[in-house]
Amino acid sequence: MAQLLITGGAGFIGSHTCLVLLQEGHSLIVLDNYSNSSPVALERVAALAELSFSANGERERLELVQGNIGDRECLEQLFNTACKRGKPIEAVIHFAGLKAVGESVREPLRYWNVNLTGTGCLLAAMDSHSCRTLVFSSSATLYGYPDTTPIPETAPIQPINPYGHSKAAVEQLLHDLAASDPNQWRIACLRYFNPVGAHPSGTIGEDPLGRPNNLFPFVSQVAVGRRESLQVFGGDWPTRDGTCIRDYIHVMDLAEGHRSALECLFAEPAQVLTLNLGSGQGASVLEVVQAFEQASGRKVPYEVVGRRDGDAAITIADPASALHRLGWRTQRTLDDICLDGWAWQSANPSGYGDLG
Ligand code: UD1
Repeated sequence: MAQLLITGGAGFIGSHTCLVLLQEGHSLIVLDNYSNSSPVALERVAALAELSFSANGERERLELVQGNIGDRECLEQLFNTACKRGKPIEAVIHFAGLKAVGESVREPLRYWNVNLTGTGCLLAAMDSHSCRTLVFSSSATLYGYPDTTPIPETAPIQPINPYGHSKAAVEQLLHDLAASDPNQWRIACLRYFNPVGAHPSGTIGEDPLGRPNNLFPFVSQVAVGRRESLQVFGGDWPTRDGTCIRDYIHVMDLAEGHRSALECLFAEPAQVLTLNLGSGQGASVLEVVQAFEQASGRKVPYEVVGRRDGDAAITIADPASALHRLGWRTQRTLDDICLDGWAWQSANPSGYGDLG
């Protein structure tokens, strides 16, 4: 079992992945600045993983460090301390970053700084400590307005906003780095489609800051009565019911995808692996609303309004490479997503703000 550094491990995808990795037996150091996450998520992860405590009362296998990926001193300390303890960091799973598309258009400098410069700082620290195994959170946003659907990894990279540009730049940096030092770097760029849902226990889930930009948390908040109604962005798209189609992936499937990617990197020679993580199935906005109503037993009132800038009609992954390279495919359906998402939302109507 390995000692891993998880950046952004308190966030939505990070926390679910931490749980899967702990259950696998790995030891984790989580670096998070809690700018869009809560340490409470990791306390709950620790409880779900039933971590034991050492004789001096310290929790085993999960250490939390508050800090930024762009803080080289902090990173040096992390790597050095792990080394001194005789458990050097063997791999990094890098979730930390900013991810709101609209915000990235308004604040490109902040996005480039955190997502690209921050990642550069992390990579430099890894390199200087000879830790060259990395799983990177990339995004289907790289494909922009896709020309084909389902979308294979070979589709053109054509992001349409600063968030997407910063993710594409990191992928390029990772290729350049791997090429500069052949046979050293083991890298997986995982291009997520639309991660949604929650752990079936309902104790960890997505907790967006303020008004959600994304469909799934908005629908959940309407169902639980935190918001009045959903605006459906466009009813005139060239799709079966006129609303946009996306590839929603259960966050536990996604978390398991990280576990499989890490196993593959450890087992195979140095490489840069680039994989879509999606289900290969599409659901329209109205189908999501319907499935959520069914799972929650609540009404989700909505009105159809104009299209949102930057949306594509249909985005669906071709997940064949992930199956071929990792033996991974999604196991959970849209109904599972809605049931688990509702378990989380109904037990935590205000997210991690509802302590207890
Ligand atoms: C968005 C991001 C993408 C990011 C992904 C993470 C944009 C343009 N893209 O993808 O970069 O990787 O989240 O999950 O923001 N919708 C409504 N009403 C709402 C919210 C959304 O009708 O209140 C519709 C959207 O128009 C879209 C679908 O729901 O058709 C999904 O939207 P969203 O959850 O924001 O995901 P994406 O836009 O696919």
